[in-house]
Amino acid sequence: MRKNPLQVVNTDKKKINGFSKKTKAERRAWLVENFLQPGQGGEFLRFDTADVALQGVIDNFSENTVANFPLPFGVAPNFVVNGTTYAVPMVIEESSVVAAASAAAKYWMTRGGFHAEVVAAEKLGQLHFRWSGRPERRAALLTGLCTRVRAQTLPLTERMESRGGGVRGIRWKHLPEVSPDCYQLLVSFGTADSMGANFINTVLEAYGQELRRWATDSPELNDDERDLEVIMAILSNHTPNCVARAWVSCPIESMNLPGSGVDAADFARRFKYAVDIARQDPYRAVTHNKGIMNGVDAVVLATGNDFRAIEAACHAFAAQSGQYRSLSQCRIDNDTFHFEVSLPLALGTVGGLTKLHPLANIALDILGRPGAHELMGVMAAAGLAQNFAALRSLVTTGIQKGHMKMHLQNILSSFGATPEERTSTETHFAGKTVSHHGVRGYLEDLRG
Ligand code: MEV
Repeated sequence: MRKNPLQVVNTDKKKINGFSKKTKAERRAWLVENFLQPGQGGEFLRFDTADVALQGVIDNFSENTVANFPLPFGVAPNFVVNGTTYAVPMVIEESSVVAAASAAAKYWMTRGGFHAEVVAAEKLGQLHFRWSGRPERRAALLTGLCTRVRAQTLPLTERMESRGGGVRGIRWKHLPEVSPDCYQLLVSFGTADSMGANFINTVLEAYGQELRRWATDSPELNDDERDLEVIMAILSNHTPNCVARAWVSCPIESMNLPGSGVDAADFARRFKYAVDIARQDPYRAVTHNKGIMNGVDAVVLATGNDFRAIEAACHAFAAQSGQYRSLSQCRIDNDTFHFEVSLPLALGTVGGLTKLHPLANIALDILGRPGAHELMGVMAAAGLAQNFAALRSLVTTGIQKGHMKMHLQNILSSFGATPEERTSTETHFAGKTVSHHGVRGYLEDLRG
């Protein structure tokens, strides 16, 4: 017998209405009452900042807030990008990432540094609609439609135009795979130093309104072409034409790894081999790209940019050939090693969280208040550095050697180890496999 849908409606006692209207203290109390142990409410309090105004700013970033969730803000110094030396701010919870970026930056500092360029900086937005006209009519109607929507949105675009941005072009696509009457206006934008999400969405929604009016009163349309329904208007996070490229290169003979005993030519050969695997094998490519995103995301977060947008765009970009591939490439030409990455990085250095979050603001100060293009270059370099560091470990010592050091520190922190206990445990575990169980046993013995 089919279940009555009404019987599966949630009548749980934990259901709550008006949660968003409650004060933060009330929300915390409700959580403790319904989901936590009585003592756990104090955990929320521990992360509150004493600065009431700042706390208010943080609370307003999101909704239903019950606590702050701190992440470490680190800096990777010695990043030379296009001849300028940066200390790159990175917000990330994974141990070893900042250390790896710093080590790679220092390595390349003495080998010409990173080079970066913005290949293109176009952002896209889409307006989807249903329309009763025939697809062949688009060519004749597009110019009139463009003139109308552009004139109508002039007050919205004027300021952006004065900053070098604005609407760059409008294409009118037919999407018969969805339905014979499905169409899209694909609008390209320049957004200067801002990420531009609000600007793009505002313009697109205004286009939607004008499109409706156009269908009603345009003398260019026949009566059977006036049925038009706007479905949605939103920017596209697929930004294959908003791309930064970063690269390093040096003679293979300088690819030595001081103190490792690894031969430079052998290292370069194994390194390229590893990148080639990630170009061909999607299982490896995903992990390889995750390493790149370790660097990229950390800078995206530190500078108050949208890491979900960047993640989505980069992975779509990695799959644009029809197969998911490595975002970086390596080649060896005439005894010279070349390593590069191209990344779609639609980001901003003005507006949004970049302005509101005090630490994002500081991060941009540390970087010397870059424009969006400069930040795109630095971010691509951070991704390349991270990728270089990961592959360098993978094809030489293996990744665990470096990770174990950090892993040990994290385990020691979880047991509240004193400086003396740390030194003793580090000495004991040097060259040995580190496990939570092993460290606990060692500390227990030490503590008697
Ligand atoms: C770990 O966060 C990232 C790596 O797995 C990247 C890679 O394998 O290239 C080390």
